[in-house]
Amino acid sequence: MEWSRPACIPVTAAAVVLLLLLLPRFCSPAGDKLTPGESLLPGETIVSDGGAFALGFFAPSNATPGRQYVGIWYNNIPVQTVVWVANRDAPVTVGDARSGNSSSSSSSAPSLALANGSASTDLVLSDAGGGRVVWTTNTTSSGTGSTAVLLNSGNFVLRSPNGTTLWQSFDHPTDTFIPDMKVGLRYRTHDGARIVSWRGPGDPSPGTFSYGMDPRTSLQMLMWNGTRTYWRSSAWTGYMTVSRYHATTGTVIYVAVVDSEDEIYMTFHVNDGAPPTRYVVTGAGRFQLLSWNRDASAWTTLESWPSRSCSPYGSCGAYGYCDNTLAVATCRCLDGFEPASPAEWSGGVFSRGCRRRSQQQALAPCGGEDDGDAFLDMPNMKVPDRFVLLGTNVSSGDECAAECRRNCSCVAYAYANLRRSSAKGDTARCLVWTADLVDAQMVGALWGVTAETLHLRVPAGFTGRKTRNKIVKIVLPVLASISLLSCIFLVWFCKTRDKTSSSESDKKLVPGSVQTSSDLAERNPTEDLEFASIRSFEKELPSIQLSDIVAATKNFSRECMVGRGGFGKVYKGTLLGGREVAVKRLSRDSEQGTEEFKNEATLISKLQHRNLVRLLGCCTEGAERLLVYEYLANKGLDAILFDSERRSLLDWPTRLGIIKGVARGLLYLHQDSRLTVIHRDLKASNVLLDAEMRPKIADFGMAQIFGDNQQKANTRRVVGTYGYIAPEYQTEGVFSVKSDVYSFGVLVLEIVSGVRISSTDNIKGSPGLVAYAWRLWNEGNASDLMDSSISQSESCVLDEALLCVHVGLLCVQDDPNRRPLMSSVVSILENGSVSLPTPDKPAYLAEKIWNRGLGLEGDDVHNSRNSMTMTVLKGR
Ligand SMILES: *[C@@H]1O[C@H](CO)[C@@H](O)[C@H](O)[C@H]1NC(C)=O
Ligand SMILES: *[C@@H]1O[C@H](CO)[C@@H](O)[C@H](O)[C@H]1NC(C)=O
Ligand SMILES: *[C@@H]1O[C@H](CO)[C@@H](O)[C@H](O)[C@H]1NC(C)=O
Ligand SMILES: *[C@@H]1O[C@H](CO)[C@@H](O)[C@H](O)[C@H]1NC(C)=O
Ligand SMILES: *[C@@H]1O[C@H](CO)[C@@H](O)[C@H](O)[C@H]1NC(C)=O
Ligand SMILES: *[C@@H]1O[C@H](CO)[C@@H](O)[C@H](O)[C@H]1NC(C)=O
Ligand SMILES: *[C@@H]1O[C@H](CO)[C@@H](O)[C@H](O)[C@H]1NC(C)=O
Repeated sequence: MEWSRPACIPVTAAAVVLLLLLLPRFCSPAGDKLTPGESLLPGETIVSDGGAFALGFFAPSNATPGRQYVGIWYNNIPVQTVVWVANRDAPVTVGDARSGNSSSSSSSAPSLALANGSASTDLVLSDAGGGRVVWTTNTTSSGTGSTAVLLNSGNFVLRSPNGTTLWQSFDHPTDTFIPDMKVGLRYRTHDGARIVSWRGPGDPSPGTFSYGMDPRTSLQMLMWNGTRTYWRSSAWTGYMTVSRYHATTGTVIYVAVVDSEDEIYMTFHVNDGAPPTRYVVTGAGRFQLLSWNRDASAWTTLESWPSRSCSPYGSCGAYGYCDNTLAVATCRCLDGFEPASPAEWSGGVFSRGCRRRSQQQALAPCGGEDDGDAFLDMPNMKVPDRFVLLGTNVSSGDECAAECRRNCSCVAYAYANLRRSSAKGDTARCLVWTADLVDAQMVGALWGVTAETLHLRVPAGFTGRKTRNKIVKIVLPVLASISLLSCIFLVWFCKTRDKTSSSESDKKLVPGSVQTSSDLAERNPTEDLEFASIRSFEKELPSIQLSDIVAATKNFSRECMVGRGGFGKVYKGTLLGGREVAVKRLSRDSEQGTEEFKNEATLISKLQHRNLVRLLGCCTEGAERLLVYEYLANKGLDAILFDSERRSLLDWPTRLGIIKGVARGLLYLHQDSRLTVIHRDLKASNVLLDAEMRPKIADFGMAQIFGDNQQKANTRRVVGTYGYIAPEYQTEGVFSVKSDVYSFGVLVLEIVSGVRISSTDNIKGSPGLVAYAWRLWNEGNASDLMDSSISQSESCVLDEALLCVHVGLLCVQDDPNRRPLMSSVVSILENGSVSLPTPDKPAYLAEKIWNRGLGLEGDDVHNSRNSMTMTVLKGR
């Protein structure tokens, strides 16, 4: 057949071109989906519902002509910026009419389609000619009939007909890390996705630089050049999230490290209304944070690592460190050390590092518990790499030091107290070093949040006991033999201890994260009855037939959809008797959603208050998880309060009524119901309004039940909405009734001002609504905060509004103990109060967000790793 090809091609090509032109429209994808039988051709795009991202064929600007890739890019900015590439190392050829190359345009076009394999439907990219498979999702035995949808987060998801996610582009990142993506490790396999640079600007094939979580410890992020570590973040010290404000683009970045049963990962979010923002690993070997600058219509690089000449990994050699406190960062030797090669060092060549000062002897030989060695403190350090995490039984700095002393080869330790990040046990993170100290840095004042004190082991002589050398000489042979024995013992001891502790650690894996009612039940068996399992709540709660709900919502039709909650969609329906209901349908591929579902249903079925939304029944048929609520005509408060037209419906008496109603609902949750319930996600969109604008608190998916004497709890999974989250909860995972009080305070300020907490407009030089409100209040201008659509003609309006601002500011104070309880809030709002305390300056916003925004090098990504990590990794 070979011979007939040249003759045939022009004919086939013409036929194909004709065919393409004549192809009926339904064969091309519409909207945000690709369904079986459709194929995407060059020039066509799929646009996410919401319009943020587009998927299609593209040619990088400097690419070889005719070579194209399938990728995802931002749909609403003028500079094509690709965030994901499917066939990154296998371009397809597309005939380019402009080049006049008849031989390459003479084949048919490549296409991306959903193709039926033997056991699965997969996305398949075929090269021109319709034959060769260039790229495929290659899922195994997932059944047929899947569809692919481009979500507005930029995630391209292949879903089975029942909604299960079979494959998603977020699991296969290229060089870009965008909000909601995860970079981390799966505990079971010890591996995880890495962000890998493009080879060059016109070539998306994998380059040499990559970024991901350190597979050895999961306590830090690494960037590699090939297989060698090229740059390293600092090790987590117990914070879970950090936020930074970037004034140039008005972007607030929230970085979190999330630890779940199966995986640990880093992810980030930006404030609502922030411009497109992404991290990227460049082909030149930099890890950068960029945000779209709308004024300049270009990308602005907010941060770039490594940031200083001596920041790359190990630049200063063993026992050297990069000193960032200087205007021009340079290498120095750790205290007690001197350059190994002074001539090279002064010539700017640092690779040989440092050695112990010659006038000091080496460390005393391995001498057991008390060998007289001392520790020298170096504060403000990004601690070196190659640490070993000791977790099992260390609960103070002294014990960490003792652990280090006990090991003959330990040269340094660093201790972090996680007490405020962890509810019980495991309150410390003790790192020890037994290898050469590499890649330490000294950080400047602004780095305060990241820096730790490194305790270097030095001979006792270093701190002044000069006579010791003589003693050492005499005692040395004796000591040496004893120490050999004790080392052998230690090794044996460590081995047995490891074995016993790892099984224990499985149980204690998530010590602080009491998340669901079932967790609580596990913690406290006596509460089993109170916080029942899904089976028993189905008994108490009316079960509604799926068929009735399908009929009520016209089979979940689009026209009936009234909202989108955190874990699914909300429909309005009319039950047979004519009763209007709101149906919350959990998205079916969300495992977590099922837990939230159980939680919400169990909880809310026990709670009855006129300021809480009423649950009428539920339905758990097949894969469906449905909650049926009373329908509230005016929906979410946010939809009215932040709408320029409708906000005038909310006059001052109505707003005050809403504030008081929410306060009473919250008081009921906190104190007056049978349980103590922390809502954890109070915000404007979770306050629903009935036909008379009376407020009802909704969405108990995140809520948390406390035992009788429990004051606060701790979680490593911070849930909730940024802006409304109390600072101690966001940074340390500690929550209590006072974290709800914080959210309530934010809500009050929003209701008075009509400004969203996440808004960056309208804030007139302050980093956020809270700081703005405090400033006005402090200057005596609090009345300026009031929404201009509130009529101030009556003097009592102003007095009431000022009281609300005052209460709001008391509720958002940084120190939870200074915030009032809801009982005081309700009483103040009802009765007024002659003498309220003066609210503190919101230190959280002023210092943390602003200062971090000014940070020099952003490797201060913290989390709340506790000391179990190492054992967990070993145990699996
Ligand atoms: C793929 O398989 C499904 C189910 O077996 C079938 O309905 C569909 O028509 C097939 N699609 C194509 C393009 O062959
Ligand atoms: C035209 O296509 C042929 C074969 O694909 C290729 O070798 C040649 O370089 C192309 N020429 C141009 C001008 O693109
Ligand atoms: C699909 O996966 C299987 C097994 O993992 C592999 O053997 C096969 O080569 C893959 N096919 C393609 C086209 O990548
Ligand atoms: C959904 O379908 C996939 C295969 O298509 C199957 O593995 C999975 O168990 C199904 N899930 C449910 C909840 O039915
Ligand atoms: C990355 O590694 C390569 C090969 O080892 C080396 O040539 C190159 O200079 C390195 N790049 C940087 C930025 O260090
Ligand atoms: C942990 O410390 C406690 C008290 O300090 C001690 O009783 C216990 O034996 C230690 N356990 C291990 C495994 O070292
Ligand atoms: C010292 O600690 C290292 C790392 O944990 C370990 O490999 C080594 O066996 C320990 N040495 C002694 C003598 O315990």
